[in-house]
Amino acid sequence: MKTFVITGASDGIGAEIARQLAATHRVEAALVLAGRSQEKLDAVAAQCARSGAQAITVAMDVSIEAQCRDLIARAVGKFGRIDALVNNAGLSAHALFEDVRAEDLHWYESLMRVNLWGAVWCTHAALPHLKQSRGRIVAVSSLAGLVGVPGRNAYSATKFALAGFFEALRAELKGAGVSVTLAYPGVVATQTRHRGYDAKGEAAGRSGLKEEDAMSVEECARLIIRGMDARKREVVMTARGKLGRFLKLLAPGVVENMALAALKDEMKPN
Ligand SMILES: NC(=O)c1ccc[n+]([C@@H]2O[C@H](COP(=O)([O-])OP(=O)(O)OC[C@H]3O[C@@H](n4cnc5c(N)ncnc54)[C@H](OP(=O)(O)O)[C@@H]3O)[C@@H](O)[C@H]2O)c1
Repeated sequence: MKTFVITGASDGIGAEIARQLAATHRVEAALVLAGRSQEKLDAVAAQCARSGAQAITVAMDVSIEAQCRDLIARAVGKFGRIDALVNNAGLSAHALFEDVRAEDLHWYESLMRVNLWGAVWCTHAALPHLKQSRGRIVAVSSLAGLVGVPGRNAYSATKFALAGFFEALRAELKGAGVSVTLAYPGVVATQTRHRGYDAKGEAAGRSGLKEEDAMSVEECARLIIRGMDARKREVVMTARGKLGRFLKLLAPGVVENMALAALKDEMKPN
């Protein structure tokens, strides 16, 4: 029996990772599904159970350290081991820096707590168990964690931080047999940008990015699971992402223009 702890499992990419793990591992999979919405977690757990997997839910907020530690304690309490921790919970944000008022700037810290600290706290608590199982860690960054995206300065900061942390941790854990896979999705068809913060730190209710060529959630989850299974260092998902990464070293101005081109016209800086 393999135990997978997945944060942000109530919706979007995390929920789909849970469903695909349940479908492929069936009775071999024990899933610990974490997120804030109990109702949504229950629905995903029921879908996983229909595939034959065991699934428990933990309603929690990754921006609170004690709740991250409790998540891991409950996973170990129930299943006795952790084979993989998927740090997927995350929040989006879209605002030009100059449009953020001083009194609203505090949401940058909140974003960092969700996108970086949640993963740090969960990973710290899970580490002894992952070392015991010679397990796997996944961290879901973003192409905005490889290239700074205009209008997404706060989000980019959190995802660069996440990537830096896990890149360093990967090297630290080399001898322990614990792999670290960093996933860098591009635009994936979820509601994340609608839920993410606007300049005031309120739910944006719309996306600032062009969404026409968005990758399906199914494809994104499949690529993340494949990378985790193969203990890949990185999963860069799109040709644009792969190109942008190398081009950044050779022609950074071109990459800036590519990043600007990803924005809807009305969201571009003047
Ligand atoms: N979709 C994309 O285009 C895209 C691209 C690159 C990277 N990503 C990254 O992929 C990950 C998943 O995003 P998604 O597109 O699947 O978004 P999503 O559909 O909005 O799902 C986000 C998940 O994170 C959970 N979550 C948010 N804040 C939380 C908190 N404070 N505590 C616990 N759980 C929390 C949500 O659950 P609750 O609301 O129930 O708490 C939900 O399950 C994120 O890290 C995101 O930054 C997404």
